[in-house]
Amino acid sequence: IEVEDFDLVVFGASGDLAHRKLLPALYHRDADGQMPEKARIICSARRDYTHDDFRDYAEKALKEHVKDLDDAHLKQFLARLYYVKIDIATAKGFEDLKTILEERPEVIRAFYLAVGPDLFGTISENLGRIGVVNSNSRVVMEKPIGKDGTSAKALNDTVGAVFAEDQIFRIDHYLGKETVQNLMALRFANALFEPLWNAAHIDHVQITVAESLGTGGRAGYYDTAGALRDMVQNHILQLLCLVAMEPPESMNADSVRDEKLKVLKALSPIDAQSADRLTVRGQYRAGASAGGAVPGYLEELGNNESRTETFVALKAEIANWRWAGVPFYLRTGKRLAQRVSEIVVQFQPIPHSIFDVEAGTITANRLIIRLQPDEGVQMQVMIKDPGPGGMRLRQVPLDMSFAEAFKVRNPDAYERLIMDVIRGNQTLFMRRDEVDAAWAWIDPILAAWAASKEAPKGYTAGTWGPSASIALVERDGRTWSEDD
Ligand code: BG6
Repeated sequence: IEVEDFDLVVFGASGDLAHRKLLPALYHRDADGQMPEKARIICSARRDYTHDDFRDYAEKALKEHVKDLDDAHLKQFLARLYYVKIDIATAKGFEDLKTILEERPEVIRAFYLAVGPDLFGTISENLGRIGVVNSNSRVVMEKPIGKDGTSAKALNDTVGAVFAEDQIFRIDHYLGKETVQNLMALRFANALFEPLWNAAHIDHVQITVAESLGTGGRAGYYDTAGALRDMVQNHILQLLCLVAMEPPESMNADSVRDEKLKVLKALSPIDAQSADRLTVRGQYRAGASAGGAVPGYLEELGNNESRTETFVALKAEIANWRWAGVPFYLRTGKRLAQRVSEIVVQFQPIPHSIFDVEAGTITANRLIIRLQPDEGVQMQVMIKDPGPGGMRLRQVPLDMSFAEAFKVRNPDAYERLIMDVIRGNQTLFMRRDEVDAAWAWIDPILAAWAASKEAPKGYTAGTWGPSASIALVERDGRTWSEDD
């Protein structure tokens, strides 16, 4: 369905995000007929480009990142692109942006800040100063939103001085992933799960976001962030919220965000006393990945002093009636054995066996939601092994693979999210108080680590992280899912 007519301004248009994600996502939405005929995408950066130079640049990006690029659609899309040179530091060029925007005062205006967070404030102030922000405007902020609670507040304050909260779209691209949205469908469009979705029936939950790549060309940024800020504060806590929240009243943005906020507030604090027991930090050393030998993080960075973690495992607990006593084991890292993101919901064992089988034969049910790759849902159940040999039991997966079930292309998260910005739908975006609550839980962990004399534990690239991560779950008599 076509969205309302709009002008989308992309700051940082020559950057990596625009190149790899935003331009391809916009192309697909256009090719699928979702963009009104006159909609424009106004790209801005510091380079001295003409409109046509930028179109050439965009064409190259699309050729690199879009499979099955179609010539007619490509032409139509490139014609929507405009370029304005803006130097954010000196504020030169904002007037030119104003001239372009004022050609169409009546359409939706969205400003996408695909730049570092240090520029969010300056851009917003300038947009306010030149008078292009109206009631039909929205702004999109990319993570990281600050590096702790205090800086997040300052950042939200400056942007909030120009845009109202319902005009601010804080992107967490995990929320736009098809499989993550499917988590809500699974929980709330089926009667089967909800009665069992609590401490009485669930033993524990594991959330793993493992990457096989290293920090790539982003070591400079990454070293100031680390895995806890880069992945846990946002993506992983958002996943935890979707698994743990109470059923919202509706899919209305505030209903969903109110419930997520309650989960974040109910997280038991981890402080200097408990950090050693509940958290594990790691940093990769040289090793091997699918492509062959790879250097360690410190070599890549060219700095032997860095204590930045490239891996983190945590035991989180949610102190409320539904989840009391159910650990949520969270884990993420770079250069791990495999690229896999999944949520594992481990149910309790059956209370009593009527079968004459060896101990341990009957394994407890497990629901695995695979976010990527091989997106799908798997329920592990016990069945009778077919054949006349008596009641032999076996665990089998009831499997649903998105690729097999649906022959359609799996759209990238950004496609859905950018269109939601135009529609003004904030359900899949983070509200300010959620960001604050997430930092409130993360900050004491960062403080405990900063105060600790210990460096992150080394792990060999291509493995599942430091052995302390295995010990974290084994201490509780459990194992990470890949070890089962
Ligand atoms: C980003 C992080 O937010 O998410 C990156 O900054 C990470 O470090 C990326 O690689 C992972 O996203 P995806 O969609 O590839 O799982």
